[in-house]
Amino acid sequence: MKPIKVGLLGIGTVGRGTFEVLLRNQAEIIRRAGRPIEITTVADVDVARASAIVGQHAKVVASGLDVVQDPEIDVVVELIGGMGIAKELMIKAIEAGKHVVTANKALIAVHGNEIFALAAQRGVMVCFEAAVAGGIPIIKSLREGLSANKIQWVAGIINGTTNFILSEMRDKGLSFEHVLKQAQALGYAEADPTFDIEGNDAAHKATIIASLSFGVALQYKQAFVQGITQLQAQDIRYAEQLGYRIKLLGLTKRVENGIELRVHPCLVPSKSLIANVEGAMNAVMVHADAVGTTLFYGKGAGSEPTASAVIADLVDIARLQSLTAAERVPYLGFHPKEISALQVLPMSQVVTSYYLRLRVADQTGVLAQVTGLLAESQISIDAVLQRAASEGESQTDLIILTHHCQESLMNEALAKIQPLPSILAPIVLIRKEELS
Ligand code: HSE
Repeated sequence: MKPIKVGLLGIGTVGRGTFEVLLRNQAEIIRRAGRPIEITTVADVDVARASAIVGQHAKVVASGLDVVQDPEIDVVVELIGGMGIAKELMIKAIEAGKHVVTANKALIAVHGNEIFALAAQRGVMVCFEAAVAGGIPIIKSLREGLSANKIQWVAGIINGTTNFILSEMRDKGLSFEHVLKQAQALGYAEADPTFDIEGNDAAHKATIIASLSFGVALQYKQAFVQGITQLQAQDIRYAEQLGYRIKLLGLTKRVENGIELRVHPCLVPSKSLIANVEGAMNAVMVHADAVGTTLFYGKGAGSEPTASAVIADLVDIARLQSLTAAERVPYLGFHPKEISALQVLPMSQVVTSYYLRLRVADQTGVLAQVTGLLAESQISIDAVLQRAASEGESQTDLIILTHHCQESLMNEALAKIQPLPSILAPIVLIRKEELS
């Protein structure tokens, strides 16, 4: 199938991630999109740096105009950021009949209404999954997955930098300035970090969420915005004593006479899931009439998480050009002819780790015998816990956590351990996954 040709504007952190993930996962992406997605041209002011990243895979130009005016390019990905040249180039791309993908939340929140009107006139898509909560597919979820619902409210930790700062301040007692520097070094912060700490970045995202939730125009200017710069360490402590944590929330609610749209530090119960979203992670809670409350969690910033959202938009655009429903929305996410022959493995071939509980005679050498048989089957032990036998008892529980091994090896070891005279009851086995 004919490839979709993409022009990339800006190859900074997210641009590089987009380029690299697209190359690395090209085969899998073709199976989903139904055609190759190729970045053919990259525009960046730093031509030498851009050339070093893309090598022979794409042409590098200094001017974005060379991308938006190139008739060979189908889709323009704008990853420059800000309102100036990014807006100008996006409008030129739309006027030239190209679909646009962007991670630029400021541009969408502030100028989205006019950009969408122009795109509608020209019959092109403007996709911005990467603009809100990075790798979390919250736009798609609001627009598609939850489309049966009347959404009542959405509350999100949608700025990783401020969440990282608040978490580190609370956890480690570090100063605001110190943690902000760390966040910048880790690449979470905006080029101008005041956008993060003053709440504007979260407000841009909350504005977009409000429009997708309630079907209203983008109204960034109406948002109430309060950042974390005035927040004092003692209030974080007092809140904690009262059973709360302070998070910078982006909130939007449908109420009787309008819509609330606000970003501010907010106490949330310490035991709630959202209170336990720590570090630079993002989470968005959506409360809607049919589904109830749902929670979306993941990385809201960074090179590849944001690239993940950019590329998902590119796949949507590639699918749009297919003729049949089965190709536009492949039933299993991959195109029918790309369904692979991979089989589900039998449990004996599964690799996992284990919790074992053995009821044993409390006598010398039992532990050595059991661990010896595990070692014989190449099973490595992670931890052992032996309950002290109660007074007058001659038996006890031996708990063993193992490292990963193939289940066939565990079966082999247990077949030898279970019949030992010192094993007094059927061994309890529970599989364990760290999910890290
Ligand atoms: N500065 C943003 C954050 C990056 O900290 O979440 C993603 O928009």
